[in-house]
Amino acid sequence: MEIIVEDSAEAAGETGSRAVIDALASRPDPVLGLATGSSPEHLYASLARASAEARFDPRRVTAFALDEYLGLDPAHPQSYRSVVDREVTRPLGLDPARVHVLDGGARNADAECRAYERAIQAAGGVDIQILGIGANGHIGFNEPGSSFQSRTRRQRLDERTRRDNARFFGGRIEDVPQECLTQGIGTIREARQIVLVASGAGKAEAVSAMIQGPVGEHCPATALRSHPSVLVLLDREAASQVR
Ligand code: GLP
Repeated sequence: MEIIVEDSAEAAGETGSRAVIDALASRPDPVLGLATGSSPEHLYASLARASAEARFDPRRVTAFALDEYLGLDPAHPQSYRSVVDREVTRPLGLDPARVHVLDGGARNADAECRAYERAIQAAGGVDIQILGIGANGHIGFNEPGSSFQSRTRRQRLDERTRRDNARFFGGRIEDVPQECLTQGIGTIREARQIVLVASGAGKAEAVSAMIQGPVGEHCPATALRSHPSVLVLLDREAASQVR
């Protein structure tokens, strides 16, 4: 892992967007892996600026989101379909037809997950995957206990994750879905490059566990330690427990 500690979350986002631009620039059919949540928001803001200034060409980019709530209407403002559209597709100028999000309203969740895996393969695999990290060490929605070989599938959300994400649902944990669809850890690890961003003291423990704790399913992000190309971008608070 290459680990960079920046003075601020904004600076980490700026560095992350440069990594994305570099990774995609030479690819004839670039494929970008998207994360939602607050961690990558500065990275997306910086990519949107690059796009507006023609330093990044979004038109040929195919994108795959990591995860989606299950049973939430895709039109709900907090579905990841809506979030990706609002915070990524439109500001960056991506072609909406090339942006893929798991269908949280799918009748057959297993078939939806299998089709998603096939679509990623058909696109040539992910060139660079943007990741955040949950306070419990999850990546995507792969909660502790997820197999490092797991593929895209249906998952039950941890109580901790639902509490953390209640802020997106007016603070009402009862409104946060109980289940989700998520790319597996095995799926995520097939991305050729990974850039993980974390900021704030709330992530310090998870970041420390990812970087210097024992590798295992108790902390899904430790699966990244054996990936050949991972860039970890932290602000000072998120790095505060790293030796
Ligand atoms: C969320 C998402 C993840 C995200 C993580 C951290 O629930 N499913 O993809 O990386 O948990 O979220 P945040 O960046 O908002 O802290």
